[in-house]
Amino acid sequence: MTQDEAKLAVAKRAVEFVEDGMRVGLGSGTTARMFIGELAKRVNEGLKIRCVASSSQSHILGTSLGMDVTTLDELPELDVYIDGADEVGPSLALIKGGGGALLREKIVASAAKRFIVVVDSTKVVDHLGKFPLPVEVIKMAMPLVLPKLAALGLNPKQRAAKSGDGPYITDEGNFILDCACGQIADPERLAADIRKIVGVVEHGLFLNMATLALVAGDDGVTEKKA
Ligand code: 5RP
Repeated sequence: MTQDEAKLAVAKRAVEFVEDGMRVGLGSGTTARMFIGELAKRVNEGLKIRCVASSSQSHILGTSLGMDVTTLDELPELDVYIDGADEVGPSLALIKGGGGALLREKIVASAAKRFIVVVDSTKVVDHLGKFPLPVEVIKMAMPLVLPKLAALGLNPKQRAAKSGDGPYITDEGNFILDCACGQIADPERLAADIRKIVGVVEHGLFLNMATLALVAGDDGVTEKKA
């Protein structure tokens, strides 16, 4: 099974967790895009749901496929949030933000009763940290935050725009620092240390948030509980 086939398999399985009348949080990234595509098919067959998206890209995609995508103003409580991840570690601790949407993703995830993470098996790890940890930073604070993250040994590097033209800017107008920190021995401690830095808006460690992981590999889709 290729990685794309695995992403599609897990996207199709995730749709089975969505029932009529639910308020659904839509994730961001390539796996979430496939999930949105599969969910839209069900909506166009008559499934009645309302959605909130965790990025402008997912909002636009959902709407363009005929889904009712609104904001947290109208739907501050969600039944389920379904999204991909860059790494899934023990106890369903996650690194997210490879696609740059970590802040809105964490906000939308926090509004949901259940957070189902959808990944291919290459994302499951024994220790978080091989994937660089994204940290979202207020633009003005960049000259202060960067050396503080470096002093924590996190090797921060500012993310460039995909076009290669200037820095990457998030949906909320902030910068991202990708921290090639290597194996994270104590994710809770690291999350607390990063959060203490003034000017950091959010980090990509999603701890005690995901309630279920759907993992696609050569043996099909398996469930991993927190
Ligand atoms: C975006 C994310 C994505 O969920 C994460 O990067 C995984 O993306 P993909 O499904 O494309 O591998 O956190 O900010």
